[in-house]
Amino acid sequence: MSTLILDKNAVRRLLGMPEVLSAVEEAFRLHAEGKAAMPPKAYLTVERGDFRAMPAALPGCAGIKWVSVHPGNLSRNLPSVMAVIIYNDRETGYPLAVMEATIITAYRTGASAAIAAKYLARKNSRTLGLIGAGYQAHTQLMAHAGIFDLEKVNVFDISAEAVSNLIKAFPDLPLRRSSIEEAAASDIVCTLTPSRRPIVKREWILPGTHVNAVGADAAGKEELDPAVLKAATVVVDDLKQAASGGEINVPVAQGIYSPDEVYGTLPEIVAGKRRGRADERQITVFDSTGIAIEDIAVAKLIYERARAQGGYPQVELV
Ligand SMILES: NC(=O)c1ccc[n+]([C@@H]2O[C@H](COP(=O)([O-])OP(=O)(O)OC[C@H]3O[C@@H](n4cnc5c(N)ncnc54)[C@H](O)[C@@H]3O)[C@@H](O)[C@H]2O)c1
Repeated sequence: MSTLILDKNAVRRLLGMPEVLSAVEEAFRLHAEGKAAMPPKAYLTVERGDFRAMPAALPGCAGIKWVSVHPGNLSRNLPSVMAVIIYNDRETGYPLAVMEATIITAYRTGASAAIAAKYLARKNSRTLGLIGAGYQAHTQLMAHAGIFDLEKVNVFDISAEAVSNLIKAFPDLPLRRSSIEEAAASDIVCTLTPSRRPIVKREWILPGTHVNAVGADAAGKEELDPAVLKAATVVVDDLKQAASGGEINVPVAQGIYSPDEVYGTLPEIVAGKRRGRADERQITVFDSTGIAIEDIAVAKLIYERARAQGGYPQVELV
């Protein structure tokens, strides 16, 4: 037996957003039906960032993502998030592949937010607001454009260059530079910054808005005025992760918000165990922390495609 080694070029070649959307949605369904296993994410904090170990098992496979988040990396010309997945056979434990997972992280994060929007945003949503135009913004845009017929995408970032780069990367989509208030007044709003203080004010969010709160994925990070959470139906990917490191973590620690106020999880909604949006004026928030089943579902997709296509490097690793 051998282990496939899939570098960033291979992963990029093997990935497509439509298939990632289906794989992640299916993983949510399996999870809610008790067919996945996923212990809590383990954090290792160091001086300039942190590492996270994210194991999961799905039918036929298991694996772990080892991901680093170092916000200062941009000044060193390195991505702030870097990751590797070890993908195993569930039955024997054999390491079937080692693959670059920074790109997988970005794709599955975009897909999970767009799936949340599919169930929680108004069906006639036409405008998307991106607050933060860095690495994640690219795949958020791809995923939402795969589900919604977007007429306008309002982009705000404190870096004018990040906005220009995003607009240049998607010449066929209706992107425009906007103020943060305009971006927040979109039908679907994605917050994609490493902020540690609320940057989106309650009064900017209109009735009927769906917000994907993606940037806060570790203790101390937050992007929304807690009054947005208070006014909204809040859905999480995983309640424990959200309470300790998601958008709700700071308000929970401050005693302003209780995890009991969370409506439910996205996997429960996808599996039909809870309903999605209830009416046109409801404000909904998806608190995304990123869960390991998303990564392993995408790793499975990539592995199976690589084996089917052939021609990728393999080693006798063990
Ligand atoms: N929820 C998840 O599953 C998940 C997955 C991956 C990354 N993340 C998180 O998403 C965030 C963004 O990740 P990334 O890879 O795109 O990072 P990045 O560094 O590539 O981009 C972040 C962007 O946010 C901008 N920004 C910073 N502060 C801002 C502010 N106050 N207002 C507007 N823009 C601001 C920066 O200029 C930059 O362009 C990080 O916090 C990361 O940890 C979450």
